[in-house]
Amino acid sequence: MTDKNELAQIGVVGLAVMGSNLARNFARNGNTVAVYNRSPEKTHALIEAHGEEGNFVPSETIEDFVASLERPRKAIIMVKAGKATDAVIDQLAEAMDEGDVIIDGGNALFTDTIRREKDVAARGKHFVGAGISGGEEGALNGPAIMPGGPKESWETLGPILESIAANVDGTPCVTHIGPDGAGHFVKMVHNGIEYADMQVIGEAYQLLRYGAGMAPAEIAEVFREWNSGDLDSYLIEITAEVLAQKDPETGAPLVDVIVDAAGQKGTGRWTAINGLELGVPITGIAESVFARALSSSTAQRSAAQEGQLPAGTIKELDVDKAEFIEDVRRALYAAKLIAYSQGFDEIKAGSEEFGWDVDPRDLATIWRGGCIIRAKFLDRIRAAYDNNADLPALILDPYFKGELEDLIDPWRRVVVAATQLGLPAPVFASSLSYYDSLRAERLPAALIQGQRDFFGAHTFKRTDKPGTFHIEWSGNRSLTQTD
Ligand code: 6PG
Repeated sequence: MTDKNELAQIGVVGLAVMGSNLARNFARNGNTVAVYNRSPEKTHALIEAHGEEGNFVPSETIEDFVASLERPRKAIIMVKAGKATDAVIDQLAEAMDEGDVIIDGGNALFTDTIRREKDVAARGKHFVGAGISGGEEGALNGPAIMPGGPKESWETLGPILESIAANVDGTPCVTHIGPDGAGHFVKMVHNGIEYADMQVIGEAYQLLRYGAGMAPAEIAEVFREWNSGDLDSYLIEITAEVLAQKDPETGAPLVDVIVDAAGQKGTGRWTAINGLELGVPITGIAESVFARALSSSTAQRSAAQEGQLPAGTIKELDVDKAEFIEDVRRALYAAKLIAYSQGFDEIKAGSEEFGWDVDPRDLATIWRGGCIIRAKFLDRIRAAYDNNADLPALILDPYFKGELEDLIDPWRRVVVAATQLGLPAPVFASSLSYYDSLRAERLPAALIQGQRDFFGAHTFKRTDKPGTFHIEWSGNRSLTQTD
């Protein structure tokens, strides 16, 4: 139904699949939705195909669109992240009045969101960068939403977003994350965790396929079973679907027909870059980004295959298949735990750096539904932060420590097996090194400090007394205190 005279509670700009699905979700949940797209064909198509789902107010100019919104006006931008977003923000800010709210629902880089929030605030309007997760299906049926921006705008925006968000046990999967770029930052790290989660699932598949020699359909069954335990999650569920799928053209397992070069739009890479900038070792996420990059280095890979790099001695799997499958499940669980633990570390560091005061419990709560990384064990993560909001690391929570007791030996066995089988398992292996580094009483960092002092007089601290010291390496090797 469309009614030009009715004012809309919310507007959507940009009606590609995500935008139109979000608009339909608003409409289906009782909101009158203003809709606008630069080329009106998309607007017409939406109204024609889905106009009966609720109240839509279509416009062909941005001015009419703005005029069709009730005050304070609220408009969500769902256009391709980048320059297009800036252009639409500018148009909206021009046409809107003081106190109106512009929401960017795309995957924007949080530093852009910080900049945009400043600019829009200077023009007297509110700007909310909101991470929206769940893909096309989530946008239509209930995404997880991570809005940043001024708390004030949450007062009016909150109920509308709650009406369309996914819902777990009566709790909507949306909450105000923090000021300016906090929402997009958290969505970025969500995506980084998503990359790591997908990669560890991929590594488990690789080991079962080429280590245990299982067929994709058989592995699909294994994943189906895993989905009823600790690993219960959307990504495990869809993995089983993908592995069970046959290519409609050839009848071969679809996974064998797909080119093994993983794409990316950049959010995982941003998470890794930001981890480096903040000095947070998000090794699982970074390795996942590198794994995608390596998979896409097709020229180098075929040269390496043709040139037959020496493989060394490759061993056959010499353990019971059922035991190996269970070991791989546990290694996957452990590596996934590390990825989440590291992701929460990055959020904590980002929150401190930018003064956002992000509550990790909020994230564990809203990520339980709607989003791509939704998983049963987020309930456990929530409980962990409920017990101790200042946990030094998620894996130090008593429940997860207990889980790791059961996971650590299988995890070590799987990393050894992968090495002996000559199969890559970058996140399984590097996460284990991360874990052992955290546990280690002494790290070779002491030696690195010695080397730095040797070639650059970079000084070092001592274990037995305070101060900063240097050895006269090129002289008599005496110790001097420099601070
Ligand atoms: C989500 C997804 C979504 C999208 C990403 C990842 O939370 O709904 O993360 O944002 O799938 O863009 O895409 P890439 O794998 O292409 O980087």
